[in-house]
Amino acid sequence: MTKQTWWKEAVVYQIYVRSFKDSNGDGIGDLRGILEKIPYLKTLGVDAIYLNPVNKSPNDDFGYDISDFYDIMDEFGTMADFDEMIRALHENGLRFIMDLVINHSSDEHPWFREARSSRDNPYHDYYIWKEGKEDRPPNNWPSFFGGSAWEYNEPTQEYYLHLFSRKQPDFNFSNQKLKEELKEIIRFWIRRGVDGFRFDAVNHIAKDLSFPDGVQKEGDRYGDFMPYVQNMPLVHDYIRELRQDTITSPDFFVAGEAGGIGFDSAHLYTREGKKELDVLFHFDMHSIGRGRRDWIRIPVDLRSTIKRSFTGWATRPEEEGWNPVFFSNHDTTRTVSRIGDDLNYPVESAKALCLLQLSQRGTPFIYYGDEIGMTNARDFKLEDYRDAAVFNKYREEVLEGDTPAADYLEGLHNMNRDNARTPMQWIPEPGAGFSESSPWIPLNSNYRRINVKAQLENPASVLNFFRSMIALRKNHPTLIYGSFREYLNEHEQLYVYTRQDGPDGREYLALLNLTSRPAEAVIPEDLRIRVNASGSAAQVLLSNHPEADASLLFEKTLRFEPWEAVLIEL
Ligand code: GLC
Ligand code: CA
Repeated sequence: MTKQTWWKEAVVYQIYVRSFKDSNGDGIGDLRGILEKIPYLKTLGVDAIYLNPVNKSPNDDFGYDISDFYDIMDEFGTMADFDEMIRALHENGLRFIMDLVINHSSDEHPWFREARSSRDNPYHDYYIWKEGKEDRPPNNWPSFFGGSAWEYNEPTQEYYLHLFSRKQPDFNFSNQKLKEELKEIIRFWIRRGVDGFRFDAVNHIAKDLSFPDGVQKEGDRYGDFMPYVQNMPLVHDYIRELRQDTITSPDFFVAGEAGGIGFDSAHLYTREGKKELDVLFHFDMHSIGRGRRDWIRIPVDLRSTIKRSFTGWATRPEEEGWNPVFFSNHDTTRTVSRIGDDLNYPVESAKALCLLQLSQRGTPFIYYGDEIGMTNARDFKLEDYRDAAVFNKYREEVLEGDTPAADYLEGLHNMNRDNARTPMQWIPEPGAGFSESSPWIPLNSNYRRINVKAQLENPASVLNFFRSMIALRKNHPTLIYGSFREYLNEHEQLYVYTRQDGPDGREYLALLNLTSRPAEAVIPEDLRIRVNASGSAAQVLLSNHPEADASLLFEKTLRFEPWEAVLIEL
């Protein structure tokens, strides 16, 4: 039987702090805003929250560029606010998972200011340098946010490496002193009461320090740097060292984020006995609907995406680790817009995806706003975006390239991560209950229609569906620990699976049509046998179609409306 721990049982709620609740009217969400909303989190029924970075930052990448690891971002509040928030969370039975950015710092961090001043400065080696002439970067690596991965530094006549923006210089993990500093930071936050971390961009912390050029396709500006900047063998040693030298409690939770990795390689980090990560945020969900160029949307193919990844994880050997079950986060777009159907079936598809997420084997991470079915910001103009990558890529693709501006904007509506960063929609009044003043990023214009207040009052809302499903998961531990079996694997529209062999000795069947078309299927023989064994005891636990009834299992053909989803206890 699966080893039981709190973080497997928890439903985690991710909060992009800047956009959740502004408590002091400056248009930016903050820690006291979260404090105010603890009752809401209780109503929702989640067990833990994960916050995007809260450390001091000049906000070139909104907190992912840290200038002081021992302090709180000015806009978010003070250390006293942080302590109060953590105390209040704990008093309310909620755990706290902190995002820690260890791959790089801000270029405004005192270490980097020192490091760039001269080659013999003691901090110089905390970062990654390569000699070069001003007009010729050392190799053809691109940065994830557009442009070269190298930035020239006049005082030392060298380039420094930045996989993300030029204001995010990468750390040099081959420097032991740097690692000791990072360990101190980790211990500091553990002492302050955090229950877990998410290590940001953790699969990038080791690089090939001989900096080979990447293979460059004709017509491309840059080479493929992936083989040299992620999942390098030393990554594992570094993570293990950080963890072993800092974390003593067996209960402490460590998640990591790993770009460019699929569920089938996650075990490289999460396999039991490796002592690296408890769960890995892989990127299968990011790429759903995403074309070769980021801003081109492609239709979702159920079999090769959701089914492959979810079933793939849920049926891997136990010792390979545990899965985080999520669709969206601050780097993707809104779940109901990318995977569901926000135009034709916004409510049905949001509920179906909720039922899917909370009946899978793995820890659900619900991204703020998804519980009310918040959508992409389809009427944003270029100037409404805040993500620096939007403007870097605009220069490359539109100004210097051949992408028409209108196509680029349409791509942003579909694929840019700012879609998932618009303010939480609390009430149908101006400001949406997020802030008294103008928010740092515009509200999605649909807040009058989609908001918490309206949904709390409506028993048939997406929000109330989430509440029911969260409660169900908690009261039916087989939904957490039970094994997983899929039926109708080849079906292009239906996702059908059972959960069984769990602590409560019961068996559950999930039937989901994850498309906007009606679907049907002949019930497979092996499922028929299990259904018959349950006799007439089968009952619907939850469905997004109120009239759903378990007798559908005794028909010859299963018929489903678009996005119809049912959870049945057999
Ligand atoms: C991770 C974060 C992303 C950030 C990047 C650089 O991918 O999730 O938001 O921009 O790391 O820190
Ligand atoms: Ca504020």
